[in-house]
Amino acid sequence: MKFFVDTAEIVDIRELAATGLVDGVTTNPSLVAKTGRDFFAVLRDICAVVEGPVSAEVAATEHDGMVREGRRLAEVAGNIVVKVPLTWDGLKACRTLAQAGIMVNVTLCFSPNQALFAAKAGAKFVSPFVGRLDDVSQDGMALIRDIRLIFDNYAALTTEILVASIRHPLHVVEAARIGADACTVPPAVMRRLANHPLTDNGLEAFLTDWQKTGQTIAGA
Ligand code: G3P
Repeated sequence: MKFFVDTAEIVDIRELAATGLVDGVTTNPSLVAKTGRDFFAVLRDICAVVEGPVSAEVAATEHDGMVREGRRLAEVAGNIVVKVPLTWDGLKACRTLAQAGIMVNVTLCFSPNQALFAAKAGAKFVSPFVGRLDDVSQDGMALIRDIRLIFDNYAALTTEILVASIRHPLHVVEAARIGADACTVPPAVMRRLANHPLTDNGLEAFLTDWQKTGQTIAGA
């Protein structure tokens, strides 16, 4: 499963990319607004750090504007993925951009039928928002299971399931159990994925016992 970082903050992206475990980045207008920075400067900084797919969302809501903005975003770097919302105009813009060879991530997906249309429109990624469904007492991971089942029924549907709106580590492990292609994870959640108190306790005990031997492994 691919791990994308869900942020526009370059400091977080640099730190997590240095682990070698980051396969891409997703941004959205809210995440970009939080930086207080110029959108294109943010994208240039991210693409200079991360070679994988970097999602950048249009602000237009009708087809022609989405396509115009999408083409401009795609000019920033070869790994830019244009994000469009899952609306009729977003689906039409996805088709136009995909036919022009531009990667598209169709976002704000909340139903299997929406995901099916995104795939038929030629999306590279579809982003179902699991956390926002959980927030309204619907089972976000059930949507991921549905989409996985549907996509696997049709070889022609090559769109990757990019699980988004992740709130905690269990969303990540469940997405992997289901076979999602990628997760986009907020930095705070990403940092928790490798942690376990028993690992910390066990390492401390190992080091305490090792020090008692008075030995060194790589010399003084
Ligand atoms: O990539 C989409 C993600 O940023 C949305 O997350 O927490 O606003 O639902 P959230």
